[in-house]
Amino acid sequence: MQSLFPGSSSELSYEDLTELYDYPSHGVWVRANFVSTLDGAVQGADHKSGSLSSKADKRVLGLLRSVADVVVIGANTARVEDYQPVKSTDRRTHIRQRLGLGPGPAMAVVSRSLDVDAALLGGGTAPTLVITTESSPSDRRAQISERAPVIIAGETSVDFAKAVDLLAEQGFARILCEGGPTLMHDVVSSGRLDELCLTWTPVIASGNALRLTDGPAIKPPYQLHLKQLLEEDGELFARYARE
Ligand SMILES: NC(=O)c1ccc[n+]([C@@H]2O[C@H](COP(=O)([O-])OP(=O)(O)OC[C@H]3O[C@@H](n4cnc5c(N)ncnc54)[C@H](OP(=O)(O)O)[C@@H]3O)[C@@H](O)[C@H]2O)c1
Repeated sequence: MQSLFPGSSSELSYEDLTELYDYPSHGVWVRANFVSTLDGAVQGADHKSGSLSSKADKRVLGLLRSVADVVVIGANTARVEDYQPVKSTDRRTHIRQRLGLGPGPAMAVVSRSLDVDAALLGGGTAPTLVITTESSPSDRRAQISERAPVIIAGETSVDFAKAVDLLAEQGFARILCEGGPTLMHDVVSSGRLDELCLTWTPVIASGNALRLTDGPAIKPPYQLHLKQLLEEDGELFARYARE
């Protein structure tokens, strides 16, 4: 992998990438990560994102997880993609120790229905959190809270800005949102997105796949600026951030 912006012809090592993708040293930072076709599809023909993802994209995703405190996902992505808690690997442990981070990252599932697979609630190196609303089914909430910490962040809809504040209070300052598009719409609309890591896979798929966000128009459009552009085998790895 090499950097096109800022330009450099040298091959980036895993250590270089860790440095490039590390979070700011202070404050809460919300990063989102997506893979997209050139025509904006974030789902493959099988309605999953894995079929769009290359080896290099998986490497970047693994790295983004390694430097995060928490991975936030929408419950539908968790269901469709059969999400599991993030497991530790020697490389992940090494990176986290080097950066002074504890075991993890934790998973945090955003759900109103609380239809969350039990397998996602335990077995990771850090506890899974469930972020929900006051109006979520109380019996289900009671069951889940026996296995996983539950965060209430809104009446009938999770208020993402509030969820970020509550996560930060609990020590989760390095936030990685892995989508999907419904949740991402709320993330962007909340005004709390600091950075988007976007992999452009060089295919055109057409069809009616979802885009990066799914929801009403965001007005004015959310402005981001290109901070970094990496390339491997024709695939582009962009980082856009707020000024
Ligand atoms: N290309 C990529 O990088 C990428 C990344 C992620 C996902 N995807 C794809 O995107 C698709 C899934 O996306 P999606 O938009 O359907 O689902 P999603 O955003 O993953 O999840 C939507 C669900 O999350 C919960 N939710 C989201 N916002 C909420 C809020 N403000 N308050 C309460 N609950 C909230 C609700 O869960 P409940 O239904 O449980 O109430 C809602 O139905 C899949 O095909 C997946 O493969 C692609």
